[in-house]
Amino acid sequence: MTIHIAAEVGRIADTVLLPGDPLRARYIAEHFLEQVSCHNEIRAMYGYTGAYKGHPISVQGTGMGIPSISIYATELMQTYGAQTLIRIGTCGAIDKDFPLREVILAKAASTDSSMNRHIFGQADYAPSADFILLKTAYEQGRQRDLPIRVGSVLTSDAFYVDNPDWEKWSRYGVMAVEMETAALYTLAAKFRRRALALLTVSDHILTGEKLTAKQRQQSLNDMIELALETAIA
Ligand code: HPA
Repeated sequence: MTIHIAAEVGRIADTVLLPGDPLRARYIAEHFLEQVSCHNEIRAMYGYTGAYKGHPISVQGTGMGIPSISIYATELMQTYGAQTLIRIGTCGAIDKDFPLREVILAKAASTDSSMNRHIFGQADYAPSADFILLKTAYEQGRQRDLPIRVGSVLTSDAFYVDNPDWEKWSRYGVMAVEMETAALYTLAAKFRRRALALLTVSDHILTGEKLTAKQRQQSLNDMIELALETAIA
């Protein structure tokens, strides 16, 4: 076990889905996986391992923000040998015309966090998705006629921001804001593993428009299925 994950080494699959919300990890385990066992309850950051269409898959809650996902991603790769990490989360669109419900396949993640400055000093590292995972998710999404879009996102350290300049990020091609992907991509590169983030647009940052609970659930189900089909393709 590690400090934050109780599983014995060897009990977590090579492929791990990473929702921020631990109850979403439980939901995925209960509704999409077979032969499930719970491998973590520490801090109620639930993790499960089971099978999807006969393939071993784990799902581990990460919590919110860079420090939290960094702990789980590091321990999963360093101690448990996880090879493929697929974040499934939500994001807020910056461009007010961006359709809610669309799933962004994040090809790259800029960040306002100083995390990579600790590694690279004043130089800027470019956290990016694994190409084959991205290509597979895109193809699987198109086959299922899901509303998907490949694009870049901003991983922000803060949910509540004083005087944000979203428009500037949007002018530079950033579609949406969330709080974890840049760390996941950077750590996956460090450990030479594969990572991808799938992010449902759940709200509009500028207008406050949000998905209804029902729409959110349907989008979530579509995104989970896309992540699982990408994992086994
Ligand atoms: N900000 C940051 N992260 C998010 C948001 C947001 O508005 N919506 C969903 N994830």
